[in-house]
Amino acid sequence: MDTDHKRWVGLQPPNEWKLEQGMDPAHLGLRNQSNLVIHTESESPAETDSAELRADADDDDPTFVVGEERKGWKGYVEWEEYPEKKAKARKRFSRHKFPPPPEFQLGPVPATNPVLEGVRWKLWHKAIGGALINVPEDSWKTVLEEKHPGMLHLLQFPYNGEPPKGLLTKEAITPNDLHFVRNHGGIPDIDPVEFDLRLDGLVNDPKVLTLDDLKNEALFPRTSMLVTIQCSGTRRVEQIGEYAGEGDEMINAPWAEGAIGTAKWTGVSLKKIIKYCGGLKGDAKHLELYGAETYFKGGDCMNYVVSVPWSKVKANEVLLAWEMNDKPLPKIHGFPLRAVVMGYIGARSVKWLYRVKAIENPSRAPVQSREYLYFQQQYGKHNQLPTCKKLYYVRP
Ligand code: MTE
Repeated sequence: MDTDHKRWVGLQPPNEWKLEQGMDPAHLGLRNQSNLVIHTESESPAETDSAELRADADDDDPTFVVGEERKGWKGYVEWEEYPEKKAKARKRFSRHKFPPPPEFQLGPVPATNPVLEGVRWKLWHKAIGGALINVPEDSWKTVLEEKHPGMLHLLQFPYNGEPPKGLLTKEAITPNDLHFVRNHGGIPDIDPVEFDLRLDGLVNDPKVLTLDDLKNEALFPRTSMLVTIQCSGTRRVEQIGEYAGEGDEMINAPWAEGAIGTAKWTGVSLKKIIKYCGGLKGDAKHLELYGAETYFKGGDCMNYVVSVPWSKVKANEVLLAWEMNDKPLPKIHGFPLRAVVMGYIGARSVKWLYRVKAIENPSRAPVQSREYLYFQQQYGKHNQLPTCKKLYYVRP
């Protein structure tokens, strides 16, 4: 942390984010949705407003505990490889009741900093328990350790934050502590010595590489690139003014213009690593990238998974990076290894990257196939199938 931080402590008014955005949420023209009755996935809709979790005694399998999966990998649970574990977690969710989805969508955007808390996401972690139970608190500690105190915390958990405009535009290269953060879950804490990257699927010679292997310049040429990452959610606060959403489980952080940052990223081109794995098998056309944290969708637990086409990788536009602006990657930005995908929305630049799998078609994982989609106005997200199975709305 630079010493300049001291200047900020205690100086920022709680409604700083709103002043920064030049918008008063009370005058945003949000559609008043406070008369909507929302039934969540609770078994008994009458009790939807309670945040209490039912006793674990209700669980079909009380011995089901999600433990730390690997030595030195805190906050990581492997879901994709274990359908039976996913099924148990799903069952556990159905035994609990949660408050209705996103806080602000039922009223004006709060003028606090953090703006939104993310109550539901915190409770999901508590409901699964075990290795995930302290993830919300641990992640917030990391935010306070690694980010600039002037950050506008749009969502406390999963953490989403942007720098005030005045600080973002001060320098061409965004300092690490001021680079925006967009998370879908907790911040894993991975010991770099215990870390490895798995390369499998349709590659000719699957491999597991340590960080030392990746940094070994005799194996892979090291590359540095200046890349601007922008989240597709940037300026969402304006979109919220038009359409606040109808209770989708994904919390729409009210981004202003700050979900954009430029950094010098250092690592290796994914193309070189695929070559080292003997290249792709005949039908492979996409690389699926796996992030280590737990993401929730429609009552299921999963890892953060998206894909990039081989054509992008072949053009050396996908970097696997361990340094950000000549410093080790901060935990919050994906330590020890992340993807940096040039010219795509930020969502493909997977943080806490632990697996690359060669596949035939673009990933069907929900982050890519059910989120991060653009809709025409006539065919909005609200006309899609609801993402929570038992979520529906009644207009009185
Ligand atoms: N990778 C993982 N594992 N989990 C995430 O939530 N968010 C994505 C991407 N990579 C995300 C992720 C999105 S939507 C964006 S915009 C960028 O990370 C943001 O990167 P940053 O937080 O380092 O700025």
